[in-house]
Amino acid sequence: MLALPRLIPLAALCVATLCAAQSTNPSPAELAAYGAAWETSQHASADPAWYETPENFSDTLKPGVLLKVEYATNLTNYTVPGSLSMSRIIYTTLDVHGSVLPTSAYILWPYHALPENDTLGYDVVLWAHGTSGLFAPCAPSNYRSLQYHFMVPYLLATQGMVVVAPDYAGLGVGSFPNGTRIYHPWATSPAQANDMAYAIQAARSAFPQYLAPGGPFVAMGHSEGGRNAWGFAERQVISPVDGYRGTVLLAPAASPIDIIEDAIKNPDAPWSIPGQSLQTLTIPSVTAVYPSYNWAGFTNVSADIFFNAYDRFQGCIPTLNIVYGTTPPSQLAQRGWSNASEVRAWQNLTRVGNKRFAGPILLLAGNNNGSDGIIPYDGPLSSSVLSTADQLCDLMEQREWDESLQVVGFKDVDHFPLIQASQSMWLDWIKQRLNGVSSSPPSGCSIGSMRAFRDGRDSFQAIPPNFLVEWVNATDQWQYSL
Ligand SMILES: *[C@@H]1O[C@H](CO)[C@@H](O)[C@H](O)[C@H]1NC(C)=O
Ligand SMILES: *[C@@H]1O[C@H](CO)[C@@H](O)[C@H](O)[C@H]1NC(C)=O
Ligand SMILES: *[C@@H]1O[C@H](CO)[C@@H](O)[C@H](O)[C@H]1NC(C)=O
Ligand SMILES: *[C@@H]1O[C@H](CO)[C@@H](O)[C@H](O)[C@H]1NC(C)=O
Ligand SMILES: *[C@@H]1O[C@H](CO)[C@@H](O)[C@H](O)[C@H]1NC(C)=O
Ligand SMILES: *[C@@H]1O[C@H](CO)[C@@H](O)[C@H](O)[C@H]1NC(C)=O
Ligand SMILES: *[C@@H]1O[C@H](CO)[C@@H](O)[C@H](O)[C@H]1NC(C)=O
Ligand SMILES: *[C@@H]1O[C@H](CO)[C@@H](O)[C@H](O)[C@H]1NC(C)=O
Ligand SMILES: *[C@@H]1O[C@H](CO)[C@@H](O)[C@H](O)[C@H]1NC(C)=O
Ligand SMILES: *[C@@H]1O[C@H](CO)[C@@H](O)[C@H](O)[C@H]1NC(C)=O
Repeated sequence: MLALPRLIPLAALCVATLCAAQSTNPSPAELAAYGAAWETSQHASADPAWYETPENFSDTLKPGVLLKVEYATNLTNYTVPGSLSMSRIIYTTLDVHGSVLPTSAYILWPYHALPENDTLGYDVVLWAHGTSGLFAPCAPSNYRSLQYHFMVPYLLATQGMVVVAPDYAGLGVGSFPNGTRIYHPWATSPAQANDMAYAIQAARSAFPQYLAPGGPFVAMGHSEGGRNAWGFAERQVISPVDGYRGTVLLAPAASPIDIIEDAIKNPDAPWSIPGQSLQTLTIPSVTAVYPSYNWAGFTNVSADIFFNAYDRFQGCIPTLNIVYGTTPPSQLAQRGWSNASEVRAWQNLTRVGNKRFAGPILLLAGNNNGSDGIIPYDGPLSSSVLSTADQLCDLMEQREWDESLQVVGFKDVDHFPLIQASQSMWLDWIKQRLNGVSSSPPSGCSIGSMRAFRDGRDSFQAIPPNFLVEWVNATDQWQYSL
């Protein structure tokens, strides 16, 4: 997910144990300690050892090389539905400058995959998760519910598809053997597109009996992951991974800097505060890509919270929501920070939607009165889904690219509810691509919309997922039997 700071008023937080013990407002460090402890309770393993860079890593290896394979993950501490199985791998990838890094991924296996053709390998969905955080403990592969649980990976695997899901560099494996930290370059789509491409390659070499070199796969992502999957579809033009059948983009953020700048200019828009909160992720990401930038856009207030609370306790997105929860958006970053040359270079490097892609692409987005709670959908904004799509459609026509882009806006639907509202559409689409049905989408561009059967405003909408899956330990398993 993208960041959702300020969703939780601090007063609401005070029903929790933290405030019972505090007569005054908790400090950012207290909030971060509290948030990070809760996040740890959501981890399958409290022991970070599995994610240590294997001894046989070297920065002279090629990308896509396997370093470690966990053949069958012990799922006792996960909420993965019975009958599925899981593996984890550590493999090499490339950062945006071409340096080799170690990183991790999970593979969720169906009980019974339905291969299109035994000689081609089982059907795969290459899943790009949305924002989970900036630090090593934020790897979806160590979340009890793999971050997106029944919304995406559990659903795909129970429908017979293999889910290959990179954690992204810097999440999971957090340092080199010499102790040097690996910073996660949040939303740096060419970097995460590499993590995606090499995850498939490494998964195929780890499990050649199930995943043939050219086996069919579809790429898919939500939110930050939608952006990353878009970057992957663009990477396919230059450096194709065999077996590719198309990409599903759910609520993709084409340019976070554009969203931030539009959010600052439109302070009354409902998506303005969540949009401005992206500054707390973007400034660290620019620094991860260009270390000389050195978090320059932070104000003293936001830098203090970042270093002395968020980074110190290695919090993830839930913690980000609370540590910055009371900081006025105007104090998150210095005025005009996005004009710095490193920031403009990062924006240019990471922008998606402005170049040739390998399709077909199915792009689905929420349009809850013009935006989805964080990503603008229409209107005269450079950051909106429709203005990006319009420009791309013009390019496709001018340059006569024989590709297919289908955009569908879901009326009255928000950022996470979109995943459910559009499920039957993307699930059918993925199965059709994997089955290689003859009726592939027509080339060219189409922009359409869906409205709810009932009045959409009667359907339940909330920016956060509201799809928590409970986990209980062995002693408390009686609670599962309702
Ligand atoms: C499951 O979690 C418990 C408690 O944190 C831990 O002792 C145990 O080692 C974990 N099991 C696995 C397989 O990770
Ligand atoms: C690293 O070691 C693992 C486990 O021994 C092995 O599977 C993998 O192939 C090795 N990779 C390299 C590059 O040596
Ligand atoms: C999984 O780990 C638990 C401890 O967390 C252990 O009791 C159980 O035997 C393990 N299962 C397998 C199949 O190894
Ligand atoms: C399976 O793949 C092989 C090799 O590409 C091909 O000859 C055969 O016709 C395919 N079978 C089906 C049922 O598609
Ligand atoms: C640590 O290892 C990484 C990767 O090999 C290398 O890029 C970095 O320069 C090393 N750092 C130090 C301080 O040696
Ligand atoms: C921010 O902190 C720096 C270094 O501590 C200090 O020099 C500067 O005056 C501070 N700026 C503001 C606006 O408080
Ligand atoms: C960036 O610089 C341009 C030209 O100097 C200016 O018009 C614009 O307002 C600046 N943007 C921000 C966000 O300060
Ligand atoms: C933007 O990126 C393109 C490559 O994607 C590069 O050719 C161009 O020089 C870059 N422009 C700036 C201003 O950095
Ligand atoms: C839709 O958004 C506009 C502009 O932000 C606002 O004036 C209007 O009240 C909103 N309508 C609803 C139904 O939320
Ligand atoms: C399971 O959790 C309960 C609290 O929910 C705790 O009292 C109990 O000790 C735990 N049992 C094990 C085996 O960890």
